[in-house]
Formats: sequence, structure tokens, C-alpha cells
Amino acid sequence: MKKILPLGILVSGSGSNLQSIIDHIESGKLDAVIRVVISNSPEAYARERCRRHNIPFVVINHGDFPLRDAFDQQMIDVLQSRGVELVIMAGFMRILTARFLSSFPLRIMNIHPALLPAFPGLHVQRKAVEYGVRFSGCTVHFADDGVDSGPIIIQAVVPVYEDDDEDSLAQRILKEEHKIYPQAIQWYVEGRLEVKGRKVYLREAEVSMNTPQHNPSLTIR
Ligand code: GRF
Repeated sequence: MKKILPLGILVSGSGSNLQSIIDHIESGKLDAVIRVVISNSPEAYARERCRRHNIPFVVINHGDFPLRDAFDQQMIDVLQSRGVELVIMAGFMRILTARFLSSFPLRIMNIHPALLPAFPGLHVQRKAVEYGVRFSGCTVHFADDGVDSGPIIIQAVVPVYEDDDEDSLAQRILKEEHKIYPQAIQWYVEGRLEVKGRKVYLREAEVSMNTPQHNPSLTIR
């Protein structure tokens, strides 16, 4: 029988990545079930998405917990009580404690809107535009005890144009986030991801036909 992976998803805001995961599950492209969505903010629009799709939504407000360990323990309890096997950080704006990481070893994924290890942290689309890079993108990786530093599963590259601002670049990147996150999770479901140190190996990967890209385009051919 096909494995259906129980997911727990952590959010803080809009939840467009959550929506993409929901859509991939509903269209049969992702063999998973969302057991619970946890938000650290009661205002998150993700709440509305969960309501529409009948998905359990739990608010654990970090402001109610003076100690980070207690906040994380509350999340661990909710996730474990619902049998979650893989934790998905989808726009979750809190840093996880060692306690949380050790409760789900190599079973936490994060998505970051830059080509790591460039531009970890916050406001990274703005930083990419200000720096003048010609390409940026997004990264899905396993979480570790650093900030946006764990083993990388998949990345997507997007061009950065001279008239881009933070928002236009964020939109271009977000479209790719919505493709690579469900893909990374599906590979996990299929048992195709093997982590050795910093590197993640994809079993039975298709030979990459990707070609080098240039931005701006070369004019000498
Ligand atoms: C995404 O860009 C994600 O990579 C970053 O926060 C944003 C969240 O978007 N960590 P959403 O809540 O999934 O719409």
C-alpha cells in the first residue's frame, strides 16, 4: 500500500506555501496528510486556508511563553500527539531550540527565499536586490541548529532584473517555492533522500538537463 506521510506544518503568516502543499495533496501529487498546522500568531491568514480545507489549526502564541523551551515543548506535544512524522516550516518566523530539533532528527524541513548559503536570515529579497546579484532563488533544506544552514535538498534559481524591487523579486521566488517544497516532501515520502553530512543525495535522480544560464544574456555567441 502507498505510504501517506503525516505532516505537521508550522506557519506565521500568509501560508501560501501551506496552500501549495494542500493543493498538491488534493490533486494526488503529494502522498501526505496534514495532521495539524501550528501558528505562533493568531492573526495568520493560514488559519483561513485551514478552515476552508478542514485542516486542524492550532495557535501556540510564543508571547504566552517566557521561555523558548516551553514554547517548543508545547509544539512538540501537539505534533507528537497527532503522530506527525515530518515537520514542515512554511514561513515560520521563530528559531527552533535544540530540544525541538532533537525531537525530530532530520525530520524538519525549511524553505528559504534565497540561494543559500547566500543571504540567510530576514528580508533576504531586499538584500539580494540591494546587493545587485543577477540571480537569486529559493532553497528547501533540512533544519539544523544554525539559521538557514542545514543540508540542502533542492534549489530553484530565478533571475533578478535591474528594475526589480523587493516585492517583484519575492513574487518571482514564491512561484518557485510553491513547486520545490511539495517536490522535496514527495521525495522524502518515497524514501529517496539520503543525508550524509552536509550533503543530501537523491536516489534515482533523473540526469539533470539543466543548462548554464546568464543574466543579462550573452551577446557574444
Ligand atoms: C516565504 O518566502 C518563505 O520562504 C519565507 O517566508 C515566506 C512565507 O510565505 N520563509 P508564505 O507564508 O508561505 O506565503
